Amino acid sequence: MSDYRITLLPGDGIGPEIMTVAVSVLKCVGEQLDVQFEYQDALIGGAAIDATGTPLPDETLAACKESDAVLLAAIGGYKWDTLPRHQRPETGLLGLRAGMELFANLRPAKILPQLIDASSLKREVIEGVDIMVVRELTGGIYFGQPKGIFATETGEKRGVNTMVYAEGEIDRIGRVAFETARKRGKRLCSVDKANVLEVSQLWRDRMIKLAEEYPDVELSHLYVDNAAMQLVRYPKQFDTIVTGNLFGDILSDEAAMLTGSIGMLPSASLGASGPGLFEPVHGSAPDIAGQDKANPIAQVLSAAMMLRYGLDQPEAADRIEQAVMHVLDAGYRTGDIMSDGMKAVGCRAMGEALVAAMQ
Ligand code: NAD
Ligand code: IPM
Ligand code: MN
Repeated sequence: MSDYRITLLPGDGIGPEIMTVAVSVLKCVGEQLDVQFEYQDALIGGAAIDATGTPLPDETLAACKESDAVLLAAIGGYKWDTLPRHQRPETGLLGLRAGMELFANLRPAKILPQLIDASSLKREVIEGVDIMVVRELTGGIYFGQPKGIFATETGEKRGVNTMVYAEGEIDRIGRVAFETARKRGKRLCSVDKANVLEVSQLWRDRMIKLAEEYPDVELSHLYVDNAAMQLVRYPKQFDTIVTGNLFGDILSDEAAMLTGSIGMLPSASLGASGPGLFEPVHGSAPDIAGQDKANPIAQVLSAAMMLRYGLDQPEAADRIEQAVMHVLDAGYRTGDIMSDGMKAVGCRAMGEALVAAMQ
């Protein structure tokens, strides 16, 4: 009898390589703590398109909804980039997030002391940085209507997307963000473009209103262009950031680079109830796929987030996070985080080092 049913979505590119590592780490921690995981693999993205013609087969969404948690690697690749939008890998991922109603995406960016020299920024700028980006995930310009490419009367085409947020959507992500900030440094920065966009004005008004319920959390606001600049100028000013879908997508990649590599950063996508989805912030890295070069740590830390936020197994999560610290202390580095004097390893060897560190 298993304790948890987990749907695995390896997806495309480096996805299967990093997923293999995450599963080996989960197996190890499961044996150590006597926790049973039962896995089912499902198709998403390009892999699903090739096998079934659609990026999110009904069976995949159903399997995900019925499991206790979903672990995703990454989707996408050159091969599918020219397909019509509804058939593209990215549409499958967006459909999964929407179908599971995962409106809150937590993307932590924490500087690990071992990797300070892997960042493109100066040590004194990034030392001690610990940021949580709370990204709204099922609304905004990604999903707003109308959307499409429409022919006008003159025959000229117009591409249209619409940035929409209803008060209820803002409030629910706002509450997640205030609660998150409350458990951290009690400072929340809401990022918007309220100087130009009405949708952002409503966003800001609601955040100010919500702040009345969280007097212990200090709320501030930044316009997104300034926020992008402040993130590299003085990232230590940030504790928790809350923002919409598109701004969150961009700022979380930027925050990832503070830590040295996007190959390090996990994420958790959560709804009001039901299973969560856990995936790295990075994509399928088609440029290094199949070459045993990928850094599996973002995937492994996503598995740790799954244990912590999805399955309430904090001890198992701690063990995995400690193993990551241990291999970094021991000097193991994939190419993306390599620096002088360290031991260069591929994806597989990093996985073996992680499992060895746990034992
Ligand atoms: P990407 O994150 O896949 O890659 C950006 C750069 O970072 C590349 O140079 C890549 O080699 C490197 N990189 C990423 N992950 C790495 C890792 N674990 N180890 C070492 N290096 C790593 O972004 P992209 O190139 O813009 O997109 C590639 C494909 O991935 C596209 O089809 C895109 O739509 C998709 N994508 C998917 C997700 C997802 O599944 N959640 C996220 C972002 C992009
Ligand atoms: C991410 C990705 C996705 C997004 C794409 C692949 C749909 O960039 O998870 O950050 O834009 O949300
Ligand atoms: Mn992204």
